[in-house]
Amino acid sequence: MVSPASGRVRVAILISGAGSNMAALIDAASAADAPFEVVGVISNDPAAGGLAIAAAHGVPVAAVDHRPFGKDREAHEAAIQRHLDDWSVEVVVLAGYMRLLTPWLVRRWAGRMLNIHPSLLPKYPGLDTHARALAAGDTEAGCTVHLVTEGVDEGPVLGQSRVPIVPGDSPASLAERVRVAEHTLYPQVLADLCQTRIASL
Ligand code: GAR
Repeated sequence: MVSPASGRVRVAILISGAGSNMAALIDAASAADAPFEVVGVISNDPAAGGLAIAAAHGVPVAAVDHRPFGKDREAHEAAIQRHLDDWSVEVVVLAGYMRLLTPWLVRRWAGRMLNIHPSLLPKYPGLDTHARALAAGDTEAGCTVHLVTEGVDEGPVLGQSRVPIVPGDSPASLAERVRVAEHTLYPQVLADLCQTRIASL
């Protein structure tokens, strides 16, 4: 839902690690004219560095460790969904969330769940995108924000940003250049989506 008090779209962020994209989104939400607010951050890894960053910004956090659920992915997602319900979330943003989602959760959030992927999709879905771009001899790389559908990294593209690949690049140096681009792209695309939702109310 949109918060009655602020008129902003209520967004939750799912992470698994450092949370630099999450931090960029929290930062963007602090702008006076931001069309979204970050109402909660969930990690499947209780040790994810992003949880402490979010908490330091006063954002509610939840660690929903996937390991006690074993192979029951839906039960893990149901535990996540309970937090999303508690927070009255309208849009879910995956930011370095490294678990595959089941159709159960994806269908529930159809059109309202975004992911950022570190390649120019449809090139290099899945893992090791930077090494694959370098091995292919590509001269540019980038990142993609897309709606989440049941196919991995397959949903409709909402925005892309390109960066050059330069001589001597390693997967790590390229990942860092792409990540900087992500921090601008993701807040812009999320803001566009939320503006559209607010305008359609
Ligand atoms: C980002 O580069 C994101 O594109 C990637 O993980 C990184 C997370 O960094 N996501 C994926 O590979 C998803 N398949 P962050 O935790 O610092 O935001």
